[in-house]
Amino acid sequence: MSKIKCVLVTGGAGYIGSHTCLYLLEAGYDVVVIDNLSNSKFLSLERVQALTGKKLGFIEGDIKIKKDINSIFRHCKIDAVIHFAGFKSVAESVTDPLNYYQNNVYGTINLLRGMEKYSINNIVFSSSATVYGEALAYPIKENSVLSAKNPYGRTKLIVEEMLRDLCMSSSSWNASILRYFNPVGAHHSGAIGEDPKGIPSNIMPFISQVAVGKLDKLSIFGNDYPTVDGTGVRDYIHVVDLAKGHISALKKLNDMPGLMTHNLGTGKGWSVLQLIAEFEKVSGKKIPYKFVGRRDGDIAINYADVSHAKEDLFWEAQETLHSICQDTWRWQSKNPDGYVSETN
Ligand code: NAD
Ligand code: WQD
Repeated sequence: MSKIKCVLVTGGAGYIGSHTCLYLLEAGYDVVVIDNLSNSKFLSLERVQALTGKKLGFIEGDIKIKKDINSIFRHCKIDAVIHFAGFKSVAESVTDPLNYYQNNVYGTINLLRGMEKYSINNIVFSSSATVYGEALAYPIKENSVLSAKNPYGRTKLIVEEMLRDLCMSSSSWNASILRYFNPVGAHHSGAIGEDPKGIPSNIMPFISQVAVGKLDKLSIFGNDYPTVDGTGVRDYIHVVDLAKGHISALKKLNDMPGLMTHNLGTGKGWSVLQLIAEFEKVSGKKIPYKFVGRRDGDIAINYADVSHAKEDLFWEAQETLHSICQDTWRWQSKNPDGYVSETN
């Protein structure tokens, strides 16, 4: 019998959060979301409710604001928190580091303070493969050396360290640190997906916006890497697999509390050209591209060792590069302008 019944999802209206809310509701959890909608729209959660036929609680609020956090814990009987809220642009974090430390680090301290005050001790945290910096060997294991290369990555490392210290300070704290590789794809319905503001900096939304005619051409950052075809190799994980990984992490926290860290990836690397070829096949659209110089801070190769998640969480990615491209294309072609309200 699960002790964790009601989950607070911070940043739940966002890309990964909305997919996770859907699978939490389907798995029978009660869900409360806090999101300040700084990088999302409530429409994502309206669609989650329509897809599942279930309701969730929504508070438009900010994790940096004490009264926003405390009033949720005062009014709802929360058993665990899945913490997605934060900023995620590497480039923005370089130009505006304080904003990143304030939102991602201070915001998390504020959340943890509220949890401490109301004796809510279970947290699942969205970390990132970015904490490995440039690894010495691939696939990357959880015990690899940690070294973030930019302020965004350092905010993830700092929060990881805080969670480790907290769990050391008292056995009542339980934390699951999930290090995502490259989240892509969309729910199979095509009703929810990734809706970046402005010009996407990540490759998948860029490709899909070229395919739908919103952008002219993809610039490929570098074709002289020591990889299969000279372009960067990444571990692209379907957001549906990722969302399900959070359910597995919650179950683990419930059954065997403590501190745990897991990679969530597929264990396979694909080059930029391989990704484009698959997307073209699935969508029937040509993706024009040109090669440009390497992007500052990029690494050649990144893919996960996923054995720990498989053995410990009984979780493994099920989707394929094919289904990733199919589902991304379904979302993008049904929603060329992202989340636009039907009533607008
Ligand atoms: P997202 O921007 O779509 O979602 C984040 C959500 O948090 C948004 O809805 C935003 O409005 C909300 N938010 C931001 N600051 C807030 C605050 N102070 N108070 C309340 N809400 C706030 O991003 P995502 O891709 O869904 O990422 C979710 C988490 O996963 C982030 O922490 C991100 O750093 C991490 N992550 C993402 C990726 C990726 O490539 N998408 C990879 C690794 C880790
Ligand atoms: C993938 C590949 C690029 C865009 C980033 C963050 C990381 C994590 C996931 C949050 C690389 C190439 C890209 C383009 C290109 N996020 N590319 N043209 O850089 O692996 O990871 O998102 O935690 O922290 O750094 O993802 O999608 O930007 O790039 O050629 O227009 O595509 O060089 O090889 P990345 P990405």
